[in-house]
Amino acid sequence: MIKKGIILAGGMGTRMSPLTKAVNKQLLPIYDKPLIFYPLSILMLAKIKDILIIVNKGQLNQYKKLFPNGNNLGIKISFKEQEKPKGLPDAFVLGEKFIGKENVAMILGDNFFYGQNLTSKLLECAKISSGAKVLLHNVKEPGLFGVAKINKNNKIIQLKEKPKKFISNHAITGLYFFDNKVVKYSKSLKPSKRGEIEIIDLLLKYKKINKLTADFIGRGGAWLDTGSIDDYYKTIAFVQAVENRQGFKIACIEEIALSNKWIGKKEIKDSIKFYGNCNYSKYLKKLI
Ligand code: DAU
Repeated sequence: MIKKGIILAGGMGTRMSPLTKAVNKQLLPIYDKPLIFYPLSILMLAKIKDILIIVNKGQLNQYKKLFPNGNNLGIKISFKEQEKPKGLPDAFVLGEKFIGKENVAMILGDNFFYGQNLTSKLLECAKISSGAKVLLHNVKEPGLFGVAKINKNNKIIQLKEKPKKFISNHAITGLYFFDNKVVKYSKSLKPSKRGEIEIIDLLLKYKKINKLTADFIGRGGAWLDTGSIDDYYKTIAFVQAVENRQGFKIACIEEIALSNKWIGKKEIKDSIKFYGNCNYSKYLKKLI
């Protein structure tokens, strides 16, 4: 099972400026909690307890205020600063020491996943022992994402970043599972025309040696990329609708830690103290 996970939570958030001028995008609210809780909850649902959060240079203090340590969640959280947005695979270059000899999962800080059977799918993906695995989801506008074309056996036959010409509507979501070769491969990538090292080029390296597999989130699942202002507000509306209808919270990281048996009542009480008197704390109180 994969034990280590990276959240790539840097980037300039240019598409959302001026909202992101002073605050990192991943710390903006998605309804009742910061955006970063959502990708963090996904790694925790995959039972990953050792987590590296990569942040923009100069924004580390903002993150440390939110996550002084992982104790209240029963996990280990470490941080690394990224000098400038050099591309998604830079996460594995910066994370080399953190990854060590292990396999690793990576989730983009602005990706939102929700749905039935998601946890079992995540646990299945985290079993990967060699190669790379991506999760695909059908979208109406594939030109906005990395896209994969597959054959009848779910084998990826073509990959392209933001294709101008239609090749398929299977978007590659921002959650990836890799074996340890990812560090070596990422270090060998050359920047593209836009000056970044590209996740597609990394995936192509695995495809070339027949080690790239894909799975689908499925129709019962939701995947939203909060990168543009409209998608950001769509995600907020989604969370608000689901939470208010069901009375359950999406991405309550303490609730996940509790159900994983990583923490007990004491840590929940510590979290309540930490957050103060708010609706989120009231929800935590109900859990115990
Ligand atoms: O959301 C899924 C898509 O994410 C994939 O389908 C694409 O293949 C993949 O390239 C990526 O596309 P985006 O255009 O959404 O990537 P963006 O540059 O917006 O970066 C995604 C997140 O990663 C964002 O929260 C900022 C962060 N980031 C990005 C880069 C390039 C970093 O922290 N550091 C970086 O160097």
